[in-house]
Amino acid sequence: TRVLSVASECVPLVKTGGLADVAGALPAALAGQGVGMRVLLPGYPAVLGAAAKAPVVREIPELFGGPARIRRGALGKAVLYILDAPHLFDRQGGIYLGPDGRDWPDNPQRFAALCKAAALIAADGVEGWRPQVLHLHDWQAGLTPVYLRQAGVRDVRTLLTIHNIAFQGLAPAHMLSALQLPAHLFNPRGFEYWGRISALKAGIVFADKVSTVSPTYAEELMTPEYGMGMEGVLADRAADFTGILNGIDLDAWKPPYATPEGKAPHRAALRDEFGLPDADGPLCVVVSRLTGQKGLDLLIEALPTLLDNGGQLAVLGSGDPGLEAAFSQAAARHPGVALRLGYDEPLSRRMIAGGDAILVPSRFEPCGLTQLYGLRFGTLPLVALTGGLADTVINASAAGLAAGVATGVQFHPVDAQALSRALSRLCALWRQPAVWSRMMENAMAHPVGWDASARAYAQLFGAMAA
Ligand code: ADP
Ligand code: GLC
Repeated sequence: TRVLSVASECVPLVKTGGLADVAGALPAALAGQGVGMRVLLPGYPAVLGAAAKAPVVREIPELFGGPARIRRGALGKAVLYILDAPHLFDRQGGIYLGPDGRDWPDNPQRFAALCKAAALIAADGVEGWRPQVLHLHDWQAGLTPVYLRQAGVRDVRTLLTIHNIAFQGLAPAHMLSALQLPAHLFNPRGFEYWGRISALKAGIVFADKVSTVSPTYAEELMTPEYGMGMEGVLADRAADFTGILNGIDLDAWKPPYATPEGKAPHRAALRDEFGLPDADGPLCVVVSRLTGQKGLDLLIEALPTLLDNGGQLAVLGSGDPGLEAAFSQAAARHPGVALRLGYDEPLSRRMIAGGDAILVPSRFEPCGLTQLYGLRFGTLPLVALTGGLADTVINASAAGLAAGVATGVQFHPVDAQALSRALSRLCALWRQPAVWSRMMENAMAHPVGWDASARAYAQLFGAMAA
């Protein structure tokens, strides 16, 4: 099956979150499954800079305010198409946010352009290659099915994958013509969302199939508690809506030890690096965007329980200024807490290798990748019972322990009290070396690669193309 993946970020070229990991991993994961996946990305400086002399394979004389072209580059062994449109993407700053920390004002046009380019490739093909399916990631690719209809393309199917419902791609109604959208679809059964245009809703309503990144999040998204206003539209699409769990790249995330004992030198090195003293409790790590989604304010509240039980905490992350300040204060006050502000992938690996446990107390989590790294490294995940965290961790409940299958600790409801109780459970487990080491073995043996999910995507794409 020929598939064009349409994404706003993709490792190793450009990443703000897990979406980039998934978009970057799928082409290789699917290659062995009979899927030929190519990727279309915006030509940000980081993407064009890595693709010197990428030949032009299609000219687009006018694309939302300027000329553009599609260039061919490479993404590992996969073909990469780059939408080179300097008026939209050649700028300093973040890929979504300007230097002032706010969304670029022309984000609706920037990602509408990505969707238009995808529709052009679907209509005419490029270099003699024409996709049978478009795999659309999040709101940034959400308008594609609308532009496909407009272009009269009926033989190319679309799958929208929702990585995070919190980002809905909203634009004011007066931008209908600026975005070249058909006015007759601006209604509640189309892409209108409370008086505005929603690119995400366009994708949900008009894509042939919709998926998200875990089975539990798929169920949750159809409820008011998690749907963030999209629960009704998603429930309407229930027959075409599934959850397919993310995997991780097993080569990129390989622990530098094969058995639980092998962790000791990495733990010692991590304590050194963070200036943490030796301790009689688990060394816990957090690697995360610091945002409300991730529930880390709850961890600030529950921190005394961890410290009173001999535990320690090392945090790597950046984001919300209030959370950054809260963790800085905690680190200044307690010798058992250390913080690195920023984004640092090599450090994140050392933390996952050296930590005893990784904490993910998210309020909602479509899939989550760091608990998967934790499993693979025997760094036991302590997670909220939600979304992909519910689907990937086996709780150390009495039953889970008795059956000898537990891989981590889950807590519910997602509040500071339940998190505190979970932290003291974690410390109690740590004080039983045989139990802890059994859990590490279970975790390290738990399948977290792409195998099963790549098969699920391949099957879905194959059925769609047929
Ligand atoms: P989300 O996409 O919601 O941020 P995920 O768990 O799916 O959550 O993916 C986050 C990805 O970003 C993981 O690969 C994680 O290791 C990485 N990451 C997050 N914050 C940092 C950081 N400060 N330094 C290094 N890597 C980070
Ligand atoms: C989003 C979600 C995260 C998921 C990632 C990749 O950023 O917040 O849970 O793992 O997308 O699908």
